Amino acid sequence: MEEGPNVPPHVLIFPLPAQGHVNSMLKLAELLSLAGLHVTFLNTDYNHDRLLRYTNILTRFSCFPGFQFKTIPDGLPPDHPRSGDDFMDLFDSLNSVTKPLFREMLFSGQSNSNSSGRSVTCIIADGIFSFPIDVGNELGIPVIHFRTISACCFWAYFSIPYMIEAGDLPIRANEDMDRLITSVPGMETFLRCRDLPSFCRVSNLADPNLQLVANKTRQSPRARALILNTFEDLEGPMLSLIRTQCPTIYTIGPHHALLKLKLGSETTTLQSQSSNSLFEVDRSCMTWLDAQPLKSVIYVSFGSIAKMTKNELMEFWYGLVNSKKRFLWVIRPDMVDGKDGDSQTPAELVEGTKEWGYLVGWAPQEEVLAHPATGGFFTHSGWNSTLESIVAGVPMLCWPYFADQQVNSRFVSEVWKLGMDMKDICDRVIVEKMVNDLMVEKREEFLKSTVEMSRLARESVSEGGSSYRNLDRLIEDIRLMNVGAKC
Ligand code: UDX
Repeated sequence: MEEGPNVPPHVLIFPLPAQGHVNSMLKLAELLSLAGLHVTFLNTDYNHDRLLRYTNILTRFSCFPGFQFKTIPDGLPPDHPRSGDDFMDLFDSLNSVTKPLFREMLFSGQSNSNSSGRSVTCIIADGIFSFPIDVGNELGIPVIHFRTISACCFWAYFSIPYMIEAGDLPIRANEDMDRLITSVPGMETFLRCRDLPSFCRVSNLADPNLQLVANKTRQSPRARALILNTFEDLEGPMLSLIRTQCPTIYTIGPHHALLKLKLGSETTTLQSQSSNSLFEVDRSCMTWLDAQPLKSVIYVSFGSIAKMTKNELMEFWYGLVNSKKRFLWVIRPDMVDGKDGDSQTPAELVEGTKEWGYLVGWAPQEEVLAHPATGGFFTHSGWNSTLESIVAGVPMLCWPYFADQQVNSRFVSEVWKLGMDMKDICDRVIVEKMVNDLMVEKREEFLKSTVEMSRLARESVSEGGSSYRNLDRLIEDIRLMNVGAKC
């Protein structure tokens, strides 16, 4: 059994098994592996199979001798959708099935040692999980939380007890959703009821999802530290507030950009880096994009979990076609509720899409946002998508679906001025108008702020930048934990 201070630390990384979380924490795994740390990435069987099917992940990580994948069941049947409203079933099965298996793995040393027999010296767990902290404490292994959401949403979740105490929650039936919420420190002047995380939209404070996000977020101060995929120039005020509760924070974002920089040339990594997808990527859209005029295309994608009804799909589709702007739209196979063939697609949409649009099931998103033809992003405001748009300097039209997306879209429009918020609206006339505003009418207005924030994002991940330095500090601190590791 290889042990001792001169052997590299062995970090176990354990994400919530969802695309945005897996994608984000895999990038952290690659960054730590590049620094020479040994990493075990613990994925669910279901998601690991999809990564193997749709990416070159094994090849990509084969150059790191101390890296290994381990898998664990998520407790759901293989045919469970794991998206939309069913997504939250995952938390029950993770608690009842995965949690005891995780403890057993670590106690039995099964995953506790890698190919070189190196036992785990540090656990980096998704910040939505609290049980790894309990297991780590029992085993004397330090646990760091990595919360893959924005700092602003982390702080909104953390402030749920403040909102309950002040009477800002629960949200009552027939509530004025534009009522200001004044009990979240730092957000008193602009956060409305409708901007709260979607789990707050309940009239019963005992709601399991509300309780879950409130209680799990309150566990983070118990972790050794908190990693956030953000940067100081974007969320400084929120980070100062979080530091009053979690003193040790490593802001290392936008870490997809930090990883590209660490890996060297843009082109080769652009090809390889967006391949953390759990869906089959259709690259034909890149050829279509190459044929479009500069900044003429609005890219439309609502992430890996959001769903919509057939009627909502029609409203978006008519709005996009009627806007007469070119559009590249990701329609995942599982995105639309309702059976296929319920109704034929209207001829005017078929014709309009031939003239203006291109549809794919899943796109190489980072490459699409970096493409010169892309001039706007119609997004659900998932945090990875938001950061990718910020780095690319692409203004956003936000249609949040659930979780942190409501808060993110409010900050994009009201605080960072990087786009517009279409929250709670799904109407073809408004879609048409806001698409035109984003791509033409308000284009110059957003250009100034998106160019500046893109510059700040790139500066933070460049050598000497805040995120660049914080990653070095995180790696050094993990090495110091290693020195204290039991032999
Ligand atoms: C989930 C939650 O929904 C989100 O709110 C939270 O911030 C993170 O976890 P998801 O909905 O998948 O994430 O959205 P997002 O965070 O934007 O992550 C999606 C990832 O998939 C992005 O990295 C994006 O580049 C990638 N993607 C998306 C593709 O590669 N191709 C696509 O067609 C769409």
